[in-house]
Amino acid sequence: MTLQKILVTGGAGFIGSNFVHNWLNRYPDNLIVVLDLLTYAGNLKNLEGLETNPNFQFVKGDICNYDLVYDLLQQFDIDCIVHFAAESHVDRSITGPDAFITTNIIGTHTLLKAARKRWIEDKKGIEHRFHHISTDEVYGSLGPDEPGFSEKTPYSPNSPYSASKASSDHLVRAYHHTYGLDVTTTNCSNNYGPYQFPEKLIPLMTLNCLRGKLLPVYGDGLNIRDWLHVKDHCQGIELVIRKGVPGQTYNIGCQCEKTNMEIVNAICSTIDKLFVKNPELAHSYPDCPAGKGSSCKELITFVTDRPGHDRRYGINCARIEKELGFKCSHNLSSGIEETVLWYIKNETWWKPLC
Ligand SMILES: NC(=O)c1ccc[n+]([C@@H]2O[C@H](COP(=O)([O-])OP(=O)(O)OC[C@H]3O[C@@H](n4cnc5c(N)ncnc54)[C@H](O)[C@@H]3O)[C@@H](O)[C@H]2O)c1
Repeated sequence: MTLQKILVTGGAGFIGSNFVHNWLNRYPDNLIVVLDLLTYAGNLKNLEGLETNPNFQFVKGDICNYDLVYDLLQQFDIDCIVHFAAESHVDRSITGPDAFITTNIIGTHTLLKAARKRWIEDKKGIEHRFHHISTDEVYGSLGPDEPGFSEKTPYSPNSPYSASKASSDHLVRAYHHTYGLDVTTTNCSNNYGPYQFPEKLIPLMTLNCLRGKLLPVYGDGLNIRDWLHVKDHCQGIELVIRKGVPGQTYNIGCQCEKTNMEIVNAICSTIDKLFVKNPELAHSYPDCPAGKGSSCKELITFVTDRPGHDRRYGINCARIEKELGFKCSHNLSSGIEETVLWYIKNETWWKPLC
């Protein structure tokens, strides 16, 4: 597909901003319009450097605002929506589910309605694509020996977050089947990399290590997640937008299942080694145990488990590999080191957030 004018919702968030940088590097002549409400998770600093790019526009606004969304589709003659905007943190969905229902369900439906009006009614026949970003959490939890989630795994969401995402996935599918909207959906596993808000596992543990704060590990620490570098994820999304079959869903993952303890230990060992290699770090981070001849592992503490905590996620990504040629290029240990280094070098980015 040769889509060139793209509305990215949630483009000031973690994955959305990585996607925007990646897309404009690869297709500098394309237009990207970011629509983002700048909730606690959105950050204009994630888009730094793009302010002067004539092919980039930022609009602060809510995906639930139909008139605004429709106006943007019209004003910029948008032919593709890449939909990242969401409430995305499971713990927050347990303490306050309402925002998840509003943004993830009503917001997605508002975008679909505006896209239908613009692309199916007003500009009938125009090449277009609505690409929806979803999660592996819609499939529920796997037993220890079960095969990874495929696109045919029945939905079984367990948290208000995953239930709201499942709902949005069904709406996207329904707009294809009922109205002929050209849609694709990707369901991905846990992402990590630069610009991730410090409440998620990898940045939280990294920043707590650097500041000598406890590392709170839920339950027995043996919940398993399948880790995907955000840049590999963005590459997968691009393949689906360019070559994916309308109406189809694709799982994206890197076959990298790890327990939370393995991730926390890997972060601790990485930071311990970096401090040995670069003793100057002890001056910048005087409370980090690694700078005092000890190990960050001494900060690990087990805390009461999250209610309804899914035990294991694992992704079978054979479809996107076979049909679209997707291949991961990051491995977890170098990816974690690169991510830890990014947080070390970007204190001015994270300090105001925690
Ligand atoms: N991070 C992960 O590991 C992961 C894994 C699987 C799927 N996903 C999905 O990927 C997408 C992006 O995740 P993320 O981690 O980048 O999220 P994020 O929380 O970092 O960013 C979400 C962005 O959406 C914006 N937003 C929230 N409500 C909005 C609204 N009503 N209108 C406009 N903008 C709004 C926020 O300001 C923020 O910039 C989400 O749909 C999420 O469900 C994320």
